Amino acid sequence: MIDKATDSGLKQGFQSHLAETKNHIQRLEQVFKMHDVKVEGVDCPAIDGILKEAKEVSGEVEDKQVLDAALIAMAQAVEHYEMTRYGTLIAWAKQLGRADCASVLEQNLKEEKAADQKLTGLAERGINAKAA
Ligand SMILES: [Fe+2]
Repeated sequence: MIDKATDSGLKQGFQSHLAETKNHIQRLEQVFKMHDVKVEGVDCPAIDGILKEAKEVSGEVEDKQVLDAALIAMAQAVEHYEMTRYGTLIAWAKQLGRADCASVLEQNLKEEKAADQKLTGLAERGINAKAA
C-alpha cells in the first residue's frame, strides 16, 4: 500500500503506521511474556481476506487519485478490525484482573484509533474530492 499510494501524505501515513505496527508486535510479545506464555504467530483469515480484497481492488483501479481513496478505504477496514480485537482483549484482560496487560494493549488501541482518524482526515481533506 505504501508503494501504491501516490498522495505524499497518505504514503507518509502508511509508513509511520508501519513503524507503529512493529511496536504493536513488541507490545503483544510483552503481554505474552506477562502471562508467561510462549509467543506464537497464527494465521488470521479475516485480515488475510481484507488484504486479498485490497490487492484485488487496487489491481482493478487505474486512476491514481481514485486508487488513493480506495487504499484509504481498505486501510480503514484493517484498522477497524484491529480496533475490535484490541477492544475485546482489553475488556477480557480487565475482566481477568489483568489491568497491567490491558494498559499495554490500550497503547496499541490508541495508536490504531489515531491511524484511523488520520486516514479519515486525509480522505476528507482532499483525497476523496480528487478521486470524485
Ligand atoms: Fe493498525
